This record gives sequence, structure tokens and C-alpha cells, in this order.
Amino acid sequence: MTALPVPVIAIDGPSGVGKGTACGHLSSRLGFKLLDSGSLYRLVGLACEWDGVSLDDDAGCTEVARALDASFEHANGRLRVWMNDREVSALIRTEKAGQDASKVAVNQGVRDALLDWQRHAAKWPGLVADGRDMGTVVFPNAGLKIFLDASTEERARRRHQQLLDSGQSVTLAAVLEEMRERDVRDRTREAAPLEAAQDAKILDTSTLTLDAMLGQVDQWADEYLSNLGN
Ligand code: C5P
Repeated sequence: MTALPVPVIAIDGPSGVGKGTACGHLSSRLGFKLLDSGSLYRLVGLACEWDGVSLDDDAGCTEVARALDASFEHANGRLRVWMNDREVSALIRTEKAGQDASKVAVNQGVRDALLDWQRHAAKWPGLVADGRDMGTVVFPNAGLKIFLDASTEERARRRHQQLLDSGQSVTLAAVLEEMRERDVRDRTREAAPLEAAQDAKILDTSTLTLDAMLGQVDQWADEYLSNLGN
């Protein structure tokens, strides 16, 4: 394994666990770049819909992923995303976009097509990478790997609140059902299933306040960065 050019902090875990919040917080505190790898899979799902490619057409989805024309901008803690020059920031955040992303994410061809894109995000002065396989596949030599977990019920409750806050109207029962379905698909797929890397620090956030979760993540990040020069 070759050494990474810059420090990389990989944060993995299931949907709704607070990875996005933890990664956004760390990247702005440390001034590091942020990779939201889930948005790439969401974009591939949306691009397949635009191109009329069925999500179970492996070769078709792989082609779409290879031709992905997207750009990203981080401003004020918010990620803005464009595809084919059209802003799709809101379009890729729906529950359907999450489900479609997890359907294209079982496809090894799609995962391979997105690999270089993700690795190129490791730029000066450092990277915080948010996903499912950051510590296991994309950055196996990341200096710090964190795996966040929480019960399905708690994650559904948090996601439901997030959706309500963003003006989407859904029931908690529907969010819970979709989350269970997505969890099974993400954990049981053959290609890069969701699992903690062997050397990951595992944090169950089910009963933690947001501040307590961020405090632990900050502590691990500070320990890692202060040991870098040694
Ligand atoms: O994190 P987010 O909810 O945006 O991810 C959407 C879906 O994309 C996940 O449910 C998962 O199936 C897929 N994904 C993945 N590998 C990643 C990031 C996301 O398979 N590194």
C-alpha cells in the first residue's frame, strides 16, 4: 500500500447515523477537504433516471458512472452539487435518491468507476471522507478510521426529523421501513459491503448527544494529527 499524500480521516457507518454532521464539523474545524461519497452514488442513480437506464442494468449503470459530469462546491457548511451544468443539490437528497443510490451501489462496475474520483479528493491540507467503504476499500491506509453506529430506530428518528426540518413530509414508519431495506442491501451486498475496517475506532451513538459524539470524534482526530509528526 502506498502512503497517502495528505492526512485522511475516514468515517463510515449506516445511513442516518450522523456521519454527515461529524464530517462537516471536522472538515471545517481542521480546514480539511470533505468527500461526501454517498452523493456520487446518488448522482449515478439520478443520471440513470435522466438517461432512461434501468438501475438493474449493470453495464448501462457502469457506463453512466464512467461518464458522470458533476461538480461540487462547499459553502457555509453546505454541499452544492451540479450535474450536466444543472444544480441538483436538492434532487439528490430525497429518500428516493437514497434508495436509488443504494441500488446502483451494489454494482461493482459503478464502484470501480467512482474509485479514482474519490481518491483524487485526498488533497492538501487533508481529507475527511464520509461513506460506507472509506476505511475498507477507498482509503485502506487512512491514518484514522472511525465507524459510527446506532440502532435502526434511533437513526430513523433522526433522519425523520432532518426530513421534516427540510420541509419534506414523510411518516416515521415510512422512514424506518426504507432504512431497514437500505441497511440490508448495504450490509449484504457482495461489492464493498458496509462493515467496520478491522482497525477502525467504533462509536455507538444511539444514546449520545450530538456534542458528546462530536467531542469523541474531535479527540480521536486531535490524537491522530498530533502523532503525525512523531
Ligand atoms: O451516505 P448516503 O446516504 O448519501 O449514501 C447513499 C447510498 O449510497 C448508501 O445507502 C449506499 O448504498 C451507497 N454508498 C456506498 N458507498 C459509499 C457511500 C454511499 O455504497 N461510500
